[in-house]
Amino acid sequence: MKVRGQELELHKDPMPGWPYSDFATGWYQIGYSEDLEVGDIQAAHWLNQELVLFRTESGQLKCLDAFCPHMGAHLGQPGQFGGKVCGENIQCPWHGWLWDGEGKNVDIPYSDKTVNATIPNKHIRETDGCIFMWFDSEGSPPSYEFEGLPYIGDEEDYYPIDYTVDGPHRVKPQFPMENSADPHHFIYVHGSGLDAEFNDYTVDGPKCSNTMYMEFGHGKESTWLTPNGPVTGHVDNFFVGASIGIARFNIDGRVCIHMTNLTPIDDHNCMFFSSIRHNKEPGDTGNVSQGLAKRMTAEQHIQIRNDFHIWANMKYKVKPIFTGPEEQSRYAFIRRHFDQFYPNPVYKENRG
Ligand code: FES
Ligand SMILES: [Fe+2]
Repeated sequence: MKVRGQELELHKDPMPGWPYSDFATGWYQIGYSEDLEVGDIQAAHWLNQELVLFRTESGQLKCLDAFCPHMGAHLGQPGQFGGKVCGENIQCPWHGWLWDGEGKNVDIPYSDKTVNATIPNKHIRETDGCIFMWFDSEGSPPSYEFEGLPYIGDEEDYYPIDYTVDGPHRVKPQFPMENSADPHHFIYVHGSGLDAEFNDYTVDGPKCSNTMYMEFGHGKESTWLTPNGPVTGHVDNFFVGASIGIARFNIDGRVCIHMTNLTPIDDHNCMFFSSIRHNKEPGDTGNVSQGLAKRMTAEQHIQIRNDFHIWANMKYKVKPIFTGPEEQSRYAFIRRHFDQFYPNPVYKENRG
């Protein structure tokens, strides 16, 4: 499989101890809007499915299963022997049949009839320059929407989104969000001067949030982020289902919104989408990130990846050892929350 032209080497070994039988229901990021212009077609492989993505002439992004129902050609291969966008439809490279964005057969060039065959289609959304696909192991349609990044102030007050994608990683989609229950890893994994503090989670259906409080630049006269000495800041965490995680840093008027989405390719591998939007430096009306905003954005892309070194080699503990009620209750809460999106919940008996 290729992502942005990069051939992937997939991990073959499962994560020991991982208890779930399928992927969690919800929205998953599968790319960036700028990678598909009008008329573009892309073969894609997400959540154990072979797919084709294409952008129609009117600009709609569509996603279908990759294989033509007629005789099974792949619709998403590049070049002469791949599919082609024709208006709002995709044309199969083998015998020229046309399929619309919902997967309905709309033309057979050598017949005056169409057939009553449909290619399974996917629910797709685009927000903040990111592409999301709905997954439900039972095939049900979306039961909620993702409204996009939680801006403070106007979107115009922010630099354009800074995007990265890499992988495959042997991790699971909710792991970055479990950071919100883990105050004691920041010193060891992220180089903080002291532990973080969190408030309790607030749940709103499939969405969940909490806030982390932290002294940035603790114990240091000056750092690149805190040139005038330590600053107490906070990070608002927003989780959507078990697959979209957003951390919004608030440090002395500096707002850095970091979306960290992991999307499974197969049972063992995820791609990591790291998307950051930082508010503009005081007085800057331009659209090119600069100064501390630029540095903070670059550091965030790196900092979040520190966790991956731990996760890539871990064994998942359904029943960890906790030191006391505070550590236990927060972890238990967020794990039960994510558990509800899986087809075989494992913390069900503990749910209040
Ligand atoms: S296989 Fe697609 S048109 Fe024949
Ligand atoms: Fe972390």
